Amino acid sequence: MKLSLVLLFAFVLPLIRAQVPHWGPCPEPTVQQAFNLKQFMGRWFEIAKLPAQFEKGRCIETNFTLTTDSSIQVVSSEILKGELRKIEGIGVVEDIKNPAKLGISYSYVLPYSPYWVLSTDYVNSAVIYSCTDILRLFHVDFAWILGRTRTLPDSTVKTARETFVKNNIDVSRMVASRQQGCDKTL
Ligand SMILES: *[C@@H]1O[C@H](CO)[C@@H](O)[C@H](O)[C@H]1NC(C)=O
Repeated sequence: MKLSLVLLFAFVLPLIRAQVPHWGPCPEPTVQQAFNLKQFMGRWFEIAKLPAQFEKGRCIETNFTLTTDSSIQVVSSEILKGELRKIEGIGVVEDIKNPAKLGISYSYVLPYSPYWVLSTDYVNSAVIYSCTDILRLFHVDFAWILGRTRTLPDSTVKTARETFVKNNIDVSRMVASRQQGCDKTL
């Protein structure tokens, strides 16, 4: 009882504020077959995301660099309030038999969050999903469409959205990320 209360206040409530939780456990999406971690490395721009975070920064991008065979330096950046902000994290392949299931942590005190590559062609786009079960009663999830360029053709975005839907992931609240005016911070 006491532990669940602690969990509730430390972990669950902040997540609920960020996202509408869904009842039941996480979906079990299929991930990219024969995932090639090396080809996935490099610079990716955020094209769309779930949940909607309207007040967040723009021009969000992430640069992945392999540091060992299975460990990744992750540098994400955004322009927020006239400033370029960067945060650095660590990515790992959590299960060698399932290399498309990565985990990323942006702090030593936080556990790795799932970062699953559902689909990618490595050179144009990637479909990413993260889901966490809470007390086995419900789950909160995050989803991203990434591009190697700041914009993607509508047809590519549509196919990416369909990848989520096929896997029973509700992306009706997904919003396009702002990738305009990225050559200046103001
Ligand atoms: C990505 O990170 C690598 C390693 O730190 C660096 O050499 C490269 O210039 C970075 N690329 C971008 C676009 O920031």
